[in-house]
Amino acid sequence: MPAELFVGLMSGTSVDSIDAALVGIDGNQFEVVAMHTTQYDTNLRQALLTLKSETTLSLSDFITLDHRVGRAFADATSALLLQSDTSSEAVVAIGSHGQTLFHQPEHQYSGTLQIGDPNIIAHTTGINVVADFRRADMAVGGQGAPLAPAFHEYLLGRNSGKVVVNLGGIANITVLGDPAIGFDTGPANSILDAMTQKHLGKPYDNSGQWARRGTVDSDLLSTLLSDPYFAKPAPKSTGTDYFNLDWALRHEGANNLSPQDLQATLTELTAITVANSIKAHTTNSTEIYVCGGGARNEYLMERLTAGVADARIKSLDETGVSGDACEASTFAWLAHRYLSGQPANLPSVTGAAKAVVLGSLYTVG
Ligand SMILES: Nc1ncnc2c1ncn2[C@@H]1O[C@H](COP(=O)(O)OP(=O)(O)O)[C@@H](O)[C@H]1O
Ligand SMILES: [Mg+2]
Repeated sequence: MPAELFVGLMSGTSVDSIDAALVGIDGNQFEVVAMHTTQYDTNLRQALLTLKSETTLSLSDFITLDHRVGRAFADATSALLLQSDTSSEAVVAIGSHGQTLFHQPEHQYSGTLQIGDPNIIAHTTGINVVADFRRADMAVGGQGAPLAPAFHEYLLGRNSGKVVVNLGGIANITVLGDPAIGFDTGPANSILDAMTQKHLGKPYDNSGQWARRGTVDSDLLSTLLSDPYFAKPAPKSTGTDYFNLDWALRHEGANNLSPQDLQATLTELTAITVANSIKAHTTNSTEIYVCGGGARNEYLMERLTAGVADARIKSLDETGVSGDACEASTFAWLAHRYLSGQPANLPSVTGAAKAVVLGSLYTVG
């Protein structure tokens, strides 16, 4: 039987672009057929980023954003299918994560909000869409995040002891074992991006060159590391509504560090918190697969490598899923899981009371 084609759509906390992956799934065979990245329109990106630092939003503005992100996700799908010369009829379903606006785990009224109307994606592309993947896990007491560990387990094997690090706006790790462990370790690219945007007018610190020229301030680093989130045991998840530039500047207080030294210190913070999280749950000879845009930050990768001295750092590309396609591929796989009626959350990771089927279906017909 030929592999079934699925599309996965993802935009993470960096709000940098929409990643779209076309994947073929045939039982235990998984292949990324094509990958496409669509930049957010500048005006829409700015609206989404501004929203993160505001506490109120009119319902009309909310609907407008939901609609615009839905259209952008549909356009990202069309671009992917055009690039790979694939017809919409050939695709079984799209798994769309959407764009997170707010994530509220561990609350009396827990919940999470991803926008990008799946009805618009379905009716624009002519392909059924599975979306809203996080809330079923939350309804049974889970954090609704991270969801990628189940995909990592499928890809790399259950008891392999391998580690996957995803360096997105926020960083998360998966430690494969019985049971698997996975959680958000803390901030990664989102604060670094906010710094370069503010001081250099650039969307990100290319290869970490700016941070490399700065000096780590050990006092500030210790203060940042004293944030209770880092010592909290898993399950835990977080977002840019907590770890953002304001959070860093609040801790910086009256220290008056140069922006470059602050960038060096924040890059070190990501490297140390990821490395410490890995070391707390593994033995020395671990293989660590890195994915997400932060894998392109050479300085961050050097500091992470130094932090996990005895482990071997590998690129996820070796598994056939490129590091850039990893998260979008996760949501294509989750759509497949939904349609085959299989649970997809790992209770050991999210803290859910049980494994449940994740997502809701938006049909074209
Ligand atoms: N060449 C690069 N040098 C440094 N950082 C990079 C580079 N390429 C991408 N990035 C970082 O990766 C981020 C995007 O990573 P991504 O995995 O898409 O995160 P998210 O899942 O949060 O959207 C960018 O915002 C940027 O910070
Ligand atoms: Mg991204």
